[in-house]
Amino acid sequence: LRYLGSKTSLLDDIFRLTNEVVSNGVLCDPFGGIGTVGNYFKQKGYQIITGDILTFAHCFQVARVVNDDFPDFMLFKKKMGIVDIAGFFNTLEPTTGWIVREYSEKRQYFSEINSGRIQSCVDMIWKLYEDKILLHEEYAYLIASLINSMDQVANTAGTYYAYLKKFNRKSNKNFIYKLITPSTGSQGCISQRVDAIDLVKNHKYDVLYLDPPYNERNYQRYYHLPENIATRTIPESNKTISGVYVEKAIKSDFNNKNRAYNSFCEILNNSRFKCLIFHYTDDGIIPVNLIRNTLSKYGTVEEFNLNCRAYTTKQNVKEVNHHIYRVINNI
Ligand SMILES: C[S@@+](CC[C@H](N)C(=O)[O-])C[C@H]1O[C@@H](n2cnc3c(N)ncnc32)[C@H](O)[C@@H]1O
Repeated sequence: LRYLGSKTSLLDDIFRLTNEVVSNGVLCDPFGGIGTVGNYFKQKGYQIITGDILTFAHCFQVARVVNDDFPDFMLFKKKMGIVDIAGFFNTLEPTTGWIVREYSEKRQYFSEINSGRIQSCVDMIWKLYEDKILLHEEYAYLIASLINSMDQVANTAGTYYAYLKKFNRKSNKNFIYKLITPSTGSQGCISQRVDAIDLVKNHKYDVLYLDPPYNERNYQRYYHLPENIATRTIPESNKTISGVYVEKAIKSDFNNKNRAYNSFCEILNNSRFKCLIFHYTDDGIIPVNLIRNTLSKYGTVEEFNLNCRAYTTKQNVKEVNHHIYRVINNI
């Protein structure tokens, strides 16, 4: 899944800067998104405590960070008399429903045939969950795998904020349900769907990795369809062009000009760490000078500039300056 603000291309740099100071132990990633950083550091031997306010992000974290192996699916396999989970989803008959209606017939997010197949997978996973045939981790894993597979054939430029005018090579491909490969590495990793502040307070972490949103783009709106699938929310039929549907808004202070800085301070005041890695862009809501001054109260601050490809829907890729602030707590 292509994720806004993903650090995939910077993982080696983030690891090097962290590892120079703390080479093992517990790493907390409270703005974990789809688990990209957690997945990488788990494989390097760190124990990961990760979180996010979005449910679909939590599902990805379970699949990519918490799971050490494929879940057992004991009840599911027994009930359906199957061994091949992906094969089971790939042979479901296409059906009709809200995804077909809202995101294929009205808005071309998926081809007609793919939308019917995605719909039948969604309906099946929801039903298995409601019938208590799946454990929480199994449900999260099936949902993340579904969203990841669906994204491979979505007629979008990355997020679900808009669809493209014409179907292209990607969206004309056949939908195939694929299971996400669990990661090996340190065991005992945890994911919680909570606000960042709740994950950091009352704990001491060897590494605290903070990668909050840095502009006003609200992740719940950009990923409304994955989030609605993960929370089992059927959108009300609406006439908007893009079909963005949010039942209960989950707002983040980090998207808000008036509140981002206070939240940043609150997190720092409630954190205990040996090494803090704070990732932020130079043109973000919180100004660079304010970040520098604030961080210096918590230890020795070093700054590293990384060039990062900013997300853009256009073909031309914009380069922006990303800053990594490394704070070594020597208090
Ligand atoms: C910049 S992204 C993280 C990207 C991630 N490091 C990666 O490489 O894919 C920020 C994430 O923070 C989450 N978020 C925003 N506000 C939050 C809050 N107050 N508490 C927890 N998560 C939050 C968003 O849902 C989003 O997934």
